[in-house]
Amino acid sequence: MTPKSKARGLWASRMGFILAASGSAIGLGNIWKFPYITGQNGGGAFVLVYLACIVVIGLPIMLSEFTLGRKTQLNPVGAFKKLAPGSTWTLVGFMGVVAGFLILSFYGVVGGWTLAYIVKSVSGASVHFGSPKEAGEFFGTFIANPVEITLYHFLFMALCVGVVIKGVHGGIEKACDILMPTLLLILFLLMIRSLTLDGAMEGVSFYLKPDFSKISPQVILIALGQAFFSLSLGMGAMLTYGSYLPEEENLLSATLYVVLFDTMIALLVGMVIFPAVFAMGMEPAEGPSLVFSVLPAVFSQMPKGNVVSIVFFVLLLIAALTSGISLLEVVVAYFIDEKGWPRKKAVLVMGSIIFVMGVPSGLSFGIWADVKLFGMNFFDHADNIASNYLLPLGGMLTAIFVGYIWGTDAAQSEIEKHETEFHWVKAWSFIIRYIAPVAVALVFLAKFFK
Ligand code: TRP
Repeated sequence: MTPKSKARGLWASRMGFILAASGSAIGLGNIWKFPYITGQNGGGAFVLVYLACIVVIGLPIMLSEFTLGRKTQLNPVGAFKKLAPGSTWTLVGFMGVVAGFLILSFYGVVGGWTLAYIVKSVSGASVHFGSPKEAGEFFGTFIANPVEITLYHFLFMALCVGVVIKGVHGGIEKACDILMPTLLLILFLLMIRSLTLDGAMEGVSFYLKPDFSKISPQVILIALGQAFFSLSLGMGAMLTYGSYLPEEENLLSATLYVVLFDTMIALLVGMVIFPAVFAMGMEPAEGPSLVFSVLPAVFSQMPKGNVVSIVFFVLLLIAALTSGISLLEVVVAYFIDEKGWPRKKAVLVMGSIIFVMGVPSGLSFGIWADVKLFGMNFFDHADNIASNYLLPLGGMLTAIFVGYIWGTDAAQSEIEKHETEFHWVKAWSFIIRYIAPVAVALVFLAKFFK
C-alpha cells in the first residue's frame, strides 16, 4: 500500500466492498424510479429491454470501471489523466463529476421525501388511507409544500455529508452492512401482500407480459439510461469505489454480485408495485409519485401497517443514503485528489452547493410546477440530462477508452492479477470494443433522427 492510498483509505474486507458497491447501486433508482418508468413505458416490454441493457452493456462497463479504478487508485479525472496524460480524456472524468452534482441535486429531494415518510409513518399520518386516491392526494399536498420539502431535502443532504466526512470505511462501508438482507426480507413480505390483493393478476401480466408495440427509440434510450442509473455507471462512481480496492480482490465476481443484487431488487420491487397498482385501480403511468401513493395505500390495508411502513421507509432511506454518498464521494474525491482540498472542506462545500442546486427541483411539484422548458420542469430536466445523456455518453466513452486507448490487454492483466481466471475475456473485449459503444451510439442516433 502506498502512503497515498493509505490517506485515501481502503475497504476493510472483500464483502465490505461488494456491499458498498451494491449499496451505491441499490437505491431510489430501484425502488422509486424503476417502477414508475416501467409504468410510464409500457410494462413487460420495457423490463425486457432494460434487462438486455443490463447484461449486454451495464455488466461489461461495470467491470471496466472497477478495473480502471483499481489500476489507477484515483478519482475519475485523475484516472484518465494517469493512463492518457495530456489528452482530452480527462474531460470524461470531469463530465462524471458534473453528472454527480446534477444527479445528487434531484436525488437529495427524493431522499427527503423518504425521510418525511418515516416521520409521517411514526405519527400515523401516512398509513390510514381508505383509498389509494386519498394516499395520492396526501402525497400531492406534501410535495407542493415548499418549506417542508426543502427542510427534509436539507436533512437528507446533511446525513450524506455526515457519512462522507467520516471517509471510506468509517462511514460508507459500515452503513451498508445490514441493509441488504433486511431490505430483501421486507420486499418479500410486501410482495406476498400485493399478490394476494384482489385483482393483482392484472398487474402481474402488465409487468411480465411484453407488448412489443410499446417499444420505440425513446423507450430504449430510457431503458438504457435506467440501466446506467441503477448500476451507478457512466460517471465514475464505480471507478471511484474500485480505486479503494486492494489488488487481491477478484473484480469479476464483485461485478457479478453487484449486478445480480441490483437487478434482483428492482425486479422484486416491480412485483410489489404493479399487482397493487392494478388491484387498487390506480394508473401505472402516474410518474414520480407512483411509489409514494401506492405503498402507503398498501400499508393501510395491512395489520400493523404503520410498523411495516416505518421499517420500509427506514430501509429506503438507508438505500438512498448509501447511493447518495457514492454520488457525493465522486465529487469529493475529485477535489481531494486534484485540488488538494482536505476531505472536510470538500464535503462541506460541495454538499452545500449540491443542496442549493437541488432546491429548484424540490419546488418543481409545487410553487415552481409551472416553470417549464420544453414541457419539463427543473426536476425532470436534471434527471433527463444526467440519466439519459451524460451517463450513457460517459459509459460509451469509458468503453472506448478501455477498448482502444488504454487497451483491453492492459485491462485484462489488471483483472487477472493474483491468478484470477478471466474465462470470458474474449467476450468481454468484444463487447467493450464493438458492442457497447456501437449500441449506445445507435440508441442516440435513433433518438435524434426518429
Ligand atoms: N444507482 C443508484 C440508485 O439506483 C443511484 C446512484 C448512485 C447513481 N450513484 C450513482 C446513479 C452514480 C448514477 C451514477 O439509486
